[in-house]
Amino acid sequence: KKKYTIAVIPGDGIGKEVTPWARRALEKAAGSVADFDYVEFDLGAERYLRDGAILPDEDLEDIKETDAILLGAVGDPRIKAGILERGLLLKLRFALDQYVNLRPSKLYKGVESPLANPGDIDFVVVREGTEGLYCGSGGAVRVDTPEEVATEVSINTAYGAERVVRYAFDLAMKRRKKVTLVHKKNVLVNAGDMWQRIVDRVAGEYPEVEHDYCHIDAATIYLVSDPGRFDVILTDNLFGDILTDEAGAVVGGVGYSASGCINAANEYPSMFEPIHGSAPDIAGQGKANPTAAILSAAMLLRHLGFDEQAAAIDAAVEADIEELGSTVRSTDQVGRDILDRL
Ligand code: NAD
Ligand code: IPM
Ligand code: MN
Repeated sequence: KKKYTIAVIPGDGIGKEVTPWARRALEKAAGSVADFDYVEFDLGAERYLRDGAILPDEDLEDIKETDAILLGAVGDPRIKAGILERGLLLKLRFALDQYVNLRPSKLYKGVESPLANPGDIDFVVVREGTEGLYCGSGGAVRVDTPEEVATEVSINTAYGAERVVRYAFDLAMKRRKKVTLVHKKNVLVNAGDMWQRIVDRVAGEYPEVEHDYCHIDAATIYLVSDPGRFDVILTDNLFGDILTDEAGAVVGGVGYSASGCINAANEYPSMFEPIHGSAPDIAGQGKANPTAAILSAAMLLRHLGFDEQAAAIDAAVEADIEELGSTVRSTDQVGRDILDRL
């Protein structure tokens, strides 16, 4: 059996409650075909409050040596917003050059969508993961005075955009062959124009793939009025963040939405996590939905080439939702129910 090392970072809040279920699903689905060695990292709010460490270099180096990362969520109301989000989560995405942030949305049978007529919803957001407004470029002057000026610079490179554009078109070839670029090129003319030119050029190499364009504001409309129109949505870092939370809500809640932060060149480990956060409003109550975390484990397995085992997790989740999706269950109950089907 081939050996793999999986870094596990449960993180904060409900991250700690759902991640054990992702790990158990991974182990049950694929433990007999491969040897997984799990290395748990004590990173997140508790660690920071204890010794001030956010992501020490030695931890990052250890994580770089693993084959993949399973992450829960980070963020804690006791800590100033941004410290853990930037210092831990974004530092990982950037240091490991996880440029494709892959976020599938599917309306499962048995889940109640808030839409009256949702139709078939099955699309994937390919969100750029290492650029745009997330770069951390900017600053503030005259802080806390009436003259304060705060700046956030959006950095977009042709290199960074082209690699996700290519990923999106390759993905579309395996799906319904449609790519929708979402941006705000009517206002953000520099970055928007660059994205559109790259899409148009790359599209020439994919004659079978249809492509269109939507402004981000209109895209939020279509996501609720006609979500069936989307196959692959290609967008930048911030638009992708916002759109995928909306997508999560449309398919019944972010508790069903998994993601992969992928280094598609395989130079560094990729990271798999629910799209949701640490949910302080429900943390500690044992009621977070672990489905997104479990589906993240399936994405991890698919990334490592275990397609059959990944499909087994997807099927167990699908069956669970179809039969029990409308019942109120605890985190552990949902976890057990899904594991029982594996
Ligand atoms: P959130 O995703 O944590 O919660 C938004 C809403 O969705 C809340 O009402 C929450 O109860 C609900 N929810 C989320 N996950 C759920 C689940 N599995 N089952 C049932 N309900 C669920 O977003 P937020 O409240 O804006 O952020 C809370 C903290 O998490 C912040 O510190 C934020 O920075 C952080 N955050 C981290 C990540 C991440 O680690 N990837 C993602 C988003 C937010
Ligand atoms: C997500 C989160 C993160 C993001 C934050 C916590 C940095 O919202 O994974 O969707 O904005 O990417
Ligand atoms: Mn988000």
